[in-house]
Amino acid sequence: MTREEARKRIEELRELIAKYDYHYYVLDQPLVSDAEYDELMRELRELEEKFPEFITPDSPTQRVGAPPREEFGTVRHTLPMLSLDDARNPEELRAFDGRVKRFLGLPPEVVVEYACEPKYDGLSCEIVYEHGRYVQASTRGDGFVGEDVTPNVRTIKTVPLRLQKVPGIPLPPRLEVRGEVVITREDFERLNREREKEGLSLFANPRNAAAGSLRQLDPGVTARRPLLFIAWGIGVGDLGTTKHSEVLDRLARLGFRVASPRRVCQGIEEVIAYYTWMQEERERFPIELDGIVVKVNDMTLWERLGTTARSPRWAVAGKFPPRERVTRIRDVQFQVGRTGIITPVAILEPVEIGGVVVSRASLHNFEEVERKDIRVGDWVFVRRAGDVIPEVVAPIKERRTGEEKPITPPERCPVCGGDVVKEGAYHKCINLACPAKLEALLRHMAARRALDIEGLGAKTARLLVQKGLVKDPADLFYLKYEDLVRLPGFAHLSATKLLEQIDRARTRTLDRWLHALGIPGVGEQLARVLAERYATLEDLQRATMEELLAIEGIGPEIARNIVNFFQEPHNRKVLEKLRQAGVRPTPIAKQEVKPNPFLGKTVVFTGALSSMTREEAKARVEALGGKVTSSVSRKTDFVVVGENPGSKYERARTLGVPILDEVAFLAMLKEAEESAE
Ligand code: IVH
Repeated sequence: MTREEARKRIEELRELIAKYDYHYYVLDQPLVSDAEYDELMRELRELEEKFPEFITPDSPTQRVGAPPREEFGTVRHTLPMLSLDDARNPEELRAFDGRVKRFLGLPPEVVVEYACEPKYDGLSCEIVYEHGRYVQASTRGDGFVGEDVTPNVRTIKTVPLRLQKVPGIPLPPRLEVRGEVVITREDFERLNREREKEGLSLFANPRNAAAGSLRQLDPGVTARRPLLFIAWGIGVGDLGTTKHSEVLDRLARLGFRVASPRRVCQGIEEVIAYYTWMQEERERFPIELDGIVVKVNDMTLWERLGTTARSPRWAVAGKFPPRERVTRIRDVQFQVGRTGIITPVAILEPVEIGGVVVSRASLHNFEEVERKDIRVGDWVFVRRAGDVIPEVVAPIKERRTGEEKPITPPERCPVCGGDVVKEGAYHKCINLACPAKLEALLRHMAARRALDIEGLGAKTARLLVQKGLVKDPADLFYLKYEDLVRLPGFAHLSATKLLEQIDRARTRTLDRWLHALGIPGVGEQLARVLAERYATLEDLQRATMEELLAIEGIGPEIARNIVNFFQEPHNRKVLEKLRQAGVRPTPIAKQEVKPNPFLGKTVVFTGALSSMTREEAKARVEALGGKVTSSVSRKTDFVVVGENPGSKYERARTLGVPILDEVAFLAMLKEAEESAE
């Protein structure tokens, strides 16, 4: 790249970033995903490193965050609120560890102690306490000067207005507590639903909702928003310890909710284990995380390590791969499912999200399309969470050209031309003989977790239906070698194999069969519950509403679905036809719990867990054959300690009962669930 080209590109990047900053910070309406923004900043920083003569004081690289909005008063931070360097994989975390040691002149074999905690994707905030009383709160702003949000933060329920007096913790005359203002995913969705009803624009993500809720000129609005403050550090103030992990312990005892689950790690490999584990578990957390933060635990080393212009050398953000990207909708397709529901599917310009190329995303239903006002041609945020199908989150209306086309529900079924009716939020093809429905049902039946018929994929299902070989699901069990071998793509071996597979399906276990039948509301789990209770399909067919309602986990709607399913004349015919074809699902015995570390053990919980509710923790331990009790005695096998534990923690220590922190508990739970499977 020539000097001139570099100068041009730098200018271009600055202009783009300035525009994105304005939309993000001032309007709370981001135009690009974080990943794209970070990429631009990275490029700009690299170019400025190569051509330092082009660095100007107004370059976005020269500041952290955004300048405070004028409508708010300003607060100068006693100590700057810096930003963090990113490590995007284990390799980059190891490089951070290497830098720390090199800087301190430590040999590579020395084990550095690190404090690890989640990195919350929210809005950073500093709260000042004088003699234990809340006096001021400010946003990070540009790192040096933030916005005065004292009245707004006062309304947040997790912010103590007076600190608790705790023996052994000296309260400094001034204490600056730093943390993140966040909102849970659930509250975010609820908030967006409410805004939708009121005809207001939707927040793009939970962080945006938190920022928009906090930076309100009317604190009354903030008060009505479900914001949380989660502490992750301090500015000025001495809590009588030089370990960061203990600072957070103490903040918790003073009344704050602190970052959790945390872990003190000996050396970077333990940090990497935590990083990997948190990445796997991230979907389970009620609050959105974008990574972990790794800090040298010994704060006396912080001064020696010091900071660069924008970030400290004693900490790093271990970022997770982004799950959200921006791309464009090229087209829309209508997919007909086995129940006839027509789902609009966005055809996207392919983008890589978390290591997978995404080119289709579900739009769920037409009500949602209308609510979010998504059009063909729109630039949209696309999100992939866990294993779920990617979804279109929201359009970026500012990027519209006027060429975008609205997406409307089809008047007739796109596959069979049959009538379409609206049922709640869904549009449904009501033609019983619609080949798309049958095809989808065959695919569902053949799935690995249902009848596990290898060789019956989407293509074969389509062929069987198109050629008229399968007119109802029972026909599958009447297929003959001569039928199959003539199909395009089939030969002697494939035909024989498929027949073998189908034959094996006749005696699959009853739970698999119940799942395969596709009774509305009866998924894998419930199929298992029913199969434990009834030995045959015929037994279940005779079950009454009352009987079904007595089973745990079955409510009136599902009970009615089951009864209706078995009474429906067409279904009865198919079931009879299946029986005649020799279909005899194998009954299952109620499963004994396999040996696992919780079997027969007594567990006590104290303090809040951040990854699940107490009810869920209890249910999962009980499912493994463990017992959960409420008080600690010598008979207790483990005590699981969450945030702000009660006196049970002390008692467990006195009695010498083994104590698990949340990280250890989750690891053990996961292992036990795997071995009990
Ligand atoms: S420590 C010197 N710990 O991430 C900066 N930050 O990219 C020390 N954040 O501005 C920051 N969770 O708003 C720290 N557990 C955590 C955090 C956290 C979220 C945010 C914070 C900071 C930004 C840095």
